[in-house]
Amino acid sequence: MFKRFLVFLFIFLLLTAINLLPSSAEEKDPLKRGEKLYDSNCAVCHGDKGNGKAWVSDTLNPKPQDFTDPKVIKTLTKKRMIQSTTEGRKGTAMQPFKTQLSKEEIELMVDYIRAAFMKIDIKAEKKK
Ligand code: HEC
Repeated sequence: MFKRFLVFLFIFLLLTAINLLPSSAEEKDPLKRGEKLYDSNCAVCHGDKGNGKAWVSDTLNPKPQDFTDPKVIKTLTKKRMIQSTTEGRKGTAMQPFKTQLSKEEIELMVDYIRAAFMKIDIKAEKKK
């Protein structure tokens, strides 16, 4: 009887461990976390691809910029992007996120935008 219980316990622990693996790996990847945060907070206006093409964006004035446009990339430093996300942009649909998201979460999203859409080497950028 006891042996059976041990076998059961072993299988149970094994399944739990397998279950935990992928999610903890994902939690550790900052870009994945940034992507999740971006998808749930920003993509409605900025679009899945960061190009400002989302179903609401046509109704906005001014419209969200295209984060993949080289002209836009030139003007947007990481510092400015963090500032705009934290404090918002007065007179636009871009609201301040400082009450909803932590500083760390804002940086994760900005890093995600820079890496995925602007194709900036964020690792090199962090070393500067
Ligand atoms: C309700 C729509 C909306 C949502 C949601 C939204 N934005 Fe924006 N965002 C805008 C608009 C519109 C602009 C253009 C503002 C401007 O021209 O100054 C903008 C501009 C920006 C800019 C550039 C600002 C600058 O300095 O020129 C950044 C960076 C940005 N958004 C990041 C984010 C992030 C990160 C999120 C998610 C936390 C987010 N936005 C969510 C509408 C939105």
